[in-house]
Amino acid sequence: MELRTITPFIGMEVGGIDLREPVGDADFALIRHALNTHALLLFRGQTLTEADHVGFSRRFGPLLTHVLKQFLKPDFPEVYVLSNVVDGGKPIGNHKEGWNWHSDLSYKAEPCLGSLLYALETPPEGADTLFASMHAAYEALDGETQKRIRSLKGVHSYATYYGKAFADRTPLSDAQREAVPDISHPLVRTHPETGRLSLYVGQDVVRGIEGMAEEGDALLAELNAHAIDPRFTYRHVWQPGDLLIWDNRSTMHCATPYDDEKYRRVMHRTTVAGDRPF
Ligand code: SIN
Repeated sequence: MELRTITPFIGMEVGGIDLREPVGDADFALIRHALNTHALLLFRGQTLTEADHVGFSRRFGPLLTHVLKQFLKPDFPEVYVLSNVVDGGKPIGNHKEGWNWHSDLSYKAEPCLGSLLYALETPPEGADTLFASMHAAYEALDGETQKRIRSLKGVHSYATYYGKAFADRTPLSDAQREAVPDISHPLVRTHPETGRLSLYVGQDVVRGIEGMAEEGDALLAELNAHAIDPRFTYRHVWQPGDLLIWDNRSTMHCATPYDDEKYRRVMHRTTVAGDRPF
């Protein structure tokens, strides 16, 4: 196994490994460490079945299932399908998922530790995914702002996100809404394994700052804009067979559009359970 840095602030490519084969404990410890320190790992040229994908994902911890059950693989409900493909009149996956900056499942009381996104079919142009280091973003804030926001909390809301991202769709059912009530999380998050601090914000999904009105909205907009400064971001251009793993405790990401009339995109995502942010 070989590890190569992608950018100084985020990302490592892991080569010389076939994830269909069991990963030994020593190699897995290196992978875990690299995820904690570099936040995004790229494995190119993989040919994974759903069982391989789920099996490798489970090495990181228990897996979560998404609230939009219609997009889960029936035999592997841990696999959430992202796609524009419609088969027999039925979408095989959620289209336009994550076309805004966010950290996966931040609207849960215990958001996920990490996500493993595997590319089966990718358009030849567009549909890149952008990643931003929230450690780098936090560390680049001036000391006064760091101090000011350390005791504040953002209100994360799946219902708000869904209403904005999927305004043209059937609204969430009462049961779906009840499954994901709004939740407050600190704006500054401590990485539970390294102790390093990061900015914990998000577009659309964070609907405000707890206890603050317009002033909070302005601050949130400022922090969201700062968080995605090109100094902290990396653009991933997908190839079929790429598996990307990211640490949701220290990154945000954003999917980008593509010509969805012309091209197919099929991605499988698993998410690993995490802890309550502090
Ligand atoms: C996501 O997990 O938010 C989707 C990313 C992508 O489809 O590129």
